[in-house]
Amino acid sequence: MKNQNEPKTVAESAVEMRFLVMPNDTNPQNSIFGGVVMSWIDMAAAMCAERHSNRPVVTVHVDDISFKAPMKIGDHALIKASINYVGKTSMLVGVKVIAENPFTGITRHTTTAYLAFVALDDIGRPIQIRGLIPETEDEIRRFENGKARIDDMKKNKK
Ligand SMILES: CC(C)(COP(=O)(O)OP(=O)(O)OC[C@H]1O[C@@H](n2cnc3c(N)ncnc32)[C@H](O)[C@@H]1OP(=O)(O)O)[C@@H](O)C(=O)NCCC(=O)NCCS
Repeated sequence: MKNQNEPKTVAESAVEMRFLVMPNDTNPQNSIFGGVVMSWIDMAAAMCAERHSNRPVVTVHVDDISFKAPMKIGDHALIKASINYVGKTSMLVGVKVIAENPFTGITRHTTTAYLAFVALDDIGRPIQIRGLIPETEDEIRRFENGKARIDDMKKNKK
């Protein structure tokens, strides 16, 4: 494992999970219940933040979650989470949800969300985390947008 002060690339902590949408996951309109998707998003994002910091983390803010298209029973839900930006003790994780029809292979981008996590020390206080190395053009763009987004979250913190 890397030393706690050594920065990590985005790829080193990225998380990808896949779920089969079951009848239990749906709402009375027979499409997926938003709360189920939010739970998958929070779990994938938390695991990504834990992989980056190698510390226990808690969610401090969920920002700008939007549901762009429904998902149906039998669809595969692909949840992709990656670190966009890191502060001193906090991390911004971006999550993209993609619905895939396993029989046709057709995919649709259904949901995007941004979540902030704080890494905790052994007695539950915020602890400084390692830096992030954005490598690709997309990662650099997300890092710059992430800084602006986290500044906004801090400004609006109640
Ligand atoms: C995590 C917790 C201990 C942090 O305490 P705190 O008093 O807010 O600590 P600080 O003010 O030092 O903030 C720590 C970091 O979080 C960031 N932060 C705190 N609240 C935030 C918010 N609402 N949005 C974005 N960032 C936030 C701060 O900016 C700071 O970032 P930085 O160190 O990278 O600059 C406390 O907020 C907490 O226990 N929250 C509840 C978490 C929880 O139960 N989540 C739900 C289940 S997991």
